[in-house]
Amino acid sequence: MDYLDNNIAILGAGNLGISIAKGIVHQGIKKAEEVYLTRRTLELVNYLEKDGFQLTKDNSEAVANSGIVLLCVQPKQLAKLMEQINPVLSEQHILVSVITGVPIEEIKSHLQKDIPVVRAMPNTAIAIGESMTCISCNDSPDYAVMIQKIFNSVGRTLIIDDKLMQAATVLGASGIAFFLRFLRAATQGGVQMGFHSDEAQLIAVQAAKGASSLILENKQHPEVEIDKVTTPMGCTISGLNEMEHQGLSSALIRGLMASYEKIANIKK
Ligand SMILES: NC(=O)c1ccc[n+]([C@@H]2O[C@H](COP(=O)([O-])OP(=O)(O)OC[C@H]3O[C@@H](n4cnc5c(N)ncnc54)[C@H](OP(=O)(O)O)[C@@H]3O)[C@@H](O)[C@H]2O)c1
Repeated sequence: MDYLDNNIAILGAGNLGISIAKGIVHQGIKKAEEVYLTRRTLELVNYLEKDGFQLTKDNSEAVANSGIVLLCVQPKQLAKLMEQINPVLSEQHILVSVITGVPIEEIKSHLQKDIPVVRAMPNTAIAIGESMTCISCNDSPDYAVMIQKIFNSVGRTLIIDDKLMQAATVLGASGIAFFLRFLRAATQGGVQMGFHSDEAQLIAVQAAKGASSLILENKQHPEVEIDKVTTPMGCTISGLNEMEHQGLSSALIRGLMASYEKIANIKK
């Protein structure tokens, strides 16, 4: 069944739900009229009505009129939401959860029928169509590929094993904060060298964007591009070596691993 032929229900029209809805429409995957958005305080998203979205407080109504159902609520709101939609879920549906830290098996434990579940982990850059979204599905790889089309509309995607989803959350979603802290430090260095902070920030951010784009376009190991910048006995290698003496790579890897250990022990 091609679930994409039917409407899409986005349950939980918060930051992420709205970004996904806009991406879907912007990329022409669905018209706004074919996308249902729900939340309890609907007044806060009334402004989306003029764009054509179907707005309702009634999760059952949204699900009954859709094929793909995106779960975009906070982890603690999941049980209540599942209670509301269970009676209307049927073989016409596929569930997609973006809820952090909730494995596919846990979503399935809330279901009263055998319905496919796909999990997706985007990041906050989804708001500007630049997300990195990891996708997993234990039911069939075909479902993951179908849902990938939706998330391709709001950035880049990768289909992964569900057991790697915690790692994907740390590297791809928390990763936004890690790289931003790096940019903040670079900006502070620029100010110390004489730039105003807005100038330093522009230079640092565009340099970081250029570095990322080089790797994305050329698909090479970062060290290949680093070699192009490091003149023998030059200033770049002096800076790089000092950063490594101070533990740059080690600090990044240890920070990632601390997040990874924490995510496995987060209480809902
Ligand atoms: N933000 C990100 O970049 C990001 C990245 C990866 C994963 N995630 C995950 O995605 C989920 C959503 O994140 P978010 O940042 O969008 O959170 P959010 O802004 O708090 O959105 C959650 C929305 O769910 C609504 N809601 C709660 N209970 C509901 C119910 N029973 N029926 C319908 N709507 C309901 C809330 O509105 P009302 O209170 O008005 O109902 C709220 O607008 C979270 O689980 C988060 O961990 C987020």
